Amino acid sequence: MKTYFVTGAMGFVGSHFSELLLKKGAKVIGLDLGPHAPHLLDYDNFTFVQDTVKNDDILKRCVDMADYVCHIAGIAEPDQYVKTPRKVIDITAFVGIKLIEMCRLTGKLFFLTSTSEIYGNNPNVPFKETDNRVLGPTSTNRWCYSSSKAILEHYLMACAHAKELDSVIVRLFNVYGPRLRGRVVANYLENALQGKNLIVHGDGSQTRSFTYIDDVVDAFDRLIHDEKCFNEIFNVGNPVETSILEFAKAVQKVSDKPIDLEYMTHAEYYGKSYEDIDRRVPDVSKLEKFTGWVPTTTLEDGLEKTFAYMKAKAAEK
Ligand SMILES: NC(=O)c1ccc[n+]([C@@H]2O[C@H](COP(=O)([O-])OP(=O)(O)OC[C@H]3O[C@@H](n4cnc5c(N)ncnc54)[C@H](O)[C@@H]3O)[C@@H](O)[C@H]2O)c1
Repeated sequence: MKTYFVTGAMGFVGSHFSELLLKKGAKVIGLDLGPHAPHLLDYDNFTFVQDTVKNDDILKRCVDMADYVCHIAGIAEPDQYVKTPRKVIDITAFVGIKLIEMCRLTGKLFFLTSTSEIYGNNPNVPFKETDNRVLGPTSTNRWCYSSSKAILEHYLMACAHAKELDSVIVRLFNVYGPRLRGRVVANYLENALQGKNLIVHGDGSQTRSFTYIDDVVDAFDRLIHDEKCFNEIFNVGNPVETSILEFAKAVQKVSDKPIDLEYMTHAEYYGKSYEDIDRRVPDVSKLEKFTGWVPTTTLEDGLEKTFAYMKAKAAEK
């Protein structure tokens, strides 16, 4: 049975992917700052390493023990790109390159969770993997996340070109589901739980592609285990385009309490060093062609499941 080293294993995406692997009987070595998803500790085939990805000795030891290295740790909350850009660059770009080097020298497959932010403000949706990146100035902090992921993608493509390392890169589009913290879906559902207003940034016409976590980890499982997908980049997202206003209305529908919408500018919410992305829609034809994957969870079903989880968690307190 294969061994997977998963960084960020206790985070939202990392914990769901780890659990899928564990259920299939694989061994998972999970590295994270804390046991945010403690139920993983119940699996005999799970080894939890509580540490930081900045600890090189720990990284080396975990890489040596693994067949696959899945680098999922990261800073994924937009307000962090603005508040702590140096940390975002450090954890994403510097640590990522170090870990890729460890895999290059030991011949371990490297799996990277990249992001739809790679496309920046490119107005031409849906995005194909080969589409242009359209980014703002380096004085606008929010682009540090996109650029940090991009340097990792470039480095992996360079390693593939030199035939020195196999990798799989996935660009994720607004993943949501149980255990998500601190992004629009979790924030809105948390407000719904507490009967608070939903804050709509701008006029709410900006769009996102909301992708349910079970669909996402299914794509990971197909890609990482199929050699024809190695050294390729794939969009992983639900191609249904939803405006933030439509999304807010969908949350109003699942809510048990009446909740209102409240409008706020991006600058009021994030401060000056933020620039919103107008539209974000993936073209997932490459992923479908390579693996047969199509997303199967509708926004309504995904929201119901996520809200049910949050209500159950709140009732435990
Ligand atoms: N969720 C999404 O919609 C989305 C979209 C695009 C890309 N991504 C990427 O997917 C990955 C996972 O995102 P997520 O939504 O699960 O975020 P998350 O915040 O839930 O999980 C990230 C995990 O990384 C861990 N981590 C952070 N710094 C660390 C450090 N120094 N040492 C060890 N662990 C550390 C955190 O503790 C956390 O458990 C990230 O790389 C993110 O960039 C996510």
